[in-house]
Amino acid sequence: MEKDEKWFEKKMDRREFLKKAGIGGAGLALGVSGASAFFANKVQKEKNLVVGDEKISFYGKHQAGITTPMQRNIYFVVLDLISTDRSQVIEMFKSWTDYSQKLVDGQVIEKDSSNVYLPPNDTGEAVGLNPYRLTLTFGVSHSFLKKMKLEKKKPKAFRELPPFPREILREKYTGGDIVIQACADDEQVAFHAVRNLIKNSRRVVAMRWSQSGFAAIGDRMETPRNLFGFKDGTANDTTEKRFDEVVWADEAGWMKGGSYMAVRRIQMFLDTWDRTSLKEQENTFGRYKDSGAPLGQKNEFDPVDLDLKDEEGEPVIPLDAHVRLAKEAGVPIFRRSYSYSSGIDDVTGQFDTGLLFIAFQKTPEQFIKIQTNLGNDDKMNEYVSHIGSGLFACFAGVQKGEYLGQKLFE
Ligand code: HEM
Repeated sequence: MEKDEKWFEKKMDRREFLKKAGIGGAGLALGVSGASAFFANKVQKEKNLVVGDEKISFYGKHQAGITTPMQRNIYFVVLDLISTDRSQVIEMFKSWTDYSQKLVDGQVIEKDSSNVYLPPNDTGEAVGLNPYRLTLTFGVSHSFLKKMKLEKKKPKAFRELPPFPREILREKYTGGDIVIQACADDEQVAFHAVRNLIKNSRRVVAMRWSQSGFAAIGDRMETPRNLFGFKDGTANDTTEKRFDEVVWADEAGWMKGGSYMAVRRIQMFLDTWDRTSLKEQENTFGRYKDSGAPLGQKNEFDPVDLDLKDEEGEPVIPLDAHVRLAKEAGVPIFRRSYSYSSGIDDVTGQFDTGLLFIAFQKTPEQFIKIQTNLGNDDKMNEYVSHIGSGLFACFAGVQKGEYLGQKLFE
């Protein structure tokens, strides 16, 4: 792949890039420091200096939040259907469509009635906040199609995830019928969106599991680092052409233009990792920690050369390195993962931390091939444990006048 195709464009003027990515925005262009930007919303005349004023349209050929440059925060929730009444479910998707386009625009979901004895329609915690590039991405699982008696509409490609070696899935992080992924450059904006979508649909869905997360998207626009301190996402594709080849489903039917989301809640054992030598850490991934370059190379975006040998004829990228095994699977995926930190683990007394691994692909097969190849051999297994899992068919984009998932119900 050409270096200039990279997501974190090297050639693009930084300010132009930040504007495109919606980070920095007016604050950066005008050279406002973090501190003054923080206080800006208290001062009316400086109000336009607050970052986060970029909006990402809810409508389009594809859903936003898939190939959209990553935002800083995620609020991810998986829901169970508690009603399978077709008209109620369709009504819910219709209201989610209406609310979503307002939420990404920075509006309240509904204005309050004049009756002060009724609860407010919108919960209110995002009032006065910018949209912060909020995106809302929706998908459904196999169990959704089954419960709604829509199995006949299941695309051929939509197979279940098989059991994988070494996974220790916990019931509380698996299963579920519907996924909502809210991403924004502000945590409260993302949470508010999910809360308000669910609030009015309590008769139809119940919450099954959720996870908030963060990505280290700094002002320097480098590839975000995960909690092992390594740049994560370097090998991702960055061009529309490649997204067509890698990400967007093309099987005829309701999923054409959609994407399959594989999600894994992966616990990362930071205490063990932090006692591991730098050399061992770098051998675990097959990349240098500081630069993110593949072992044996200089720069982050240099090609991963699996055939490179050292003076003793040993492979420079070890045979059990994560990057080698992932690459040898021979299929691409598009990763969009967020770190999480959820307090202290009840059992071990260690940090309850990890990666909410999210990958989008044209068919689930791509993820399955890579995860199978990582299997038992991935050196990273010593430091992680897969404890949650899900596979969701994320609808194609919504056109104005349409509602989410409409083609599935037609
Ligand atoms: C906690 C779990 C994980 C961590 C910390 C992690 C970390 C990394 C890092 C640091 C890289 C190198 C930089 C990059 O290209 O992004 C990488 C590459 C990659 N990872 Fe992971 N990863 C994890 C789980 C997974 C899983 C579950 C899969 C898929 C089943 C996966 C698939 C890949 C792929 C496809 C690459 C790119 C390989 C290439 O072509 O160069 N990773 N990962």
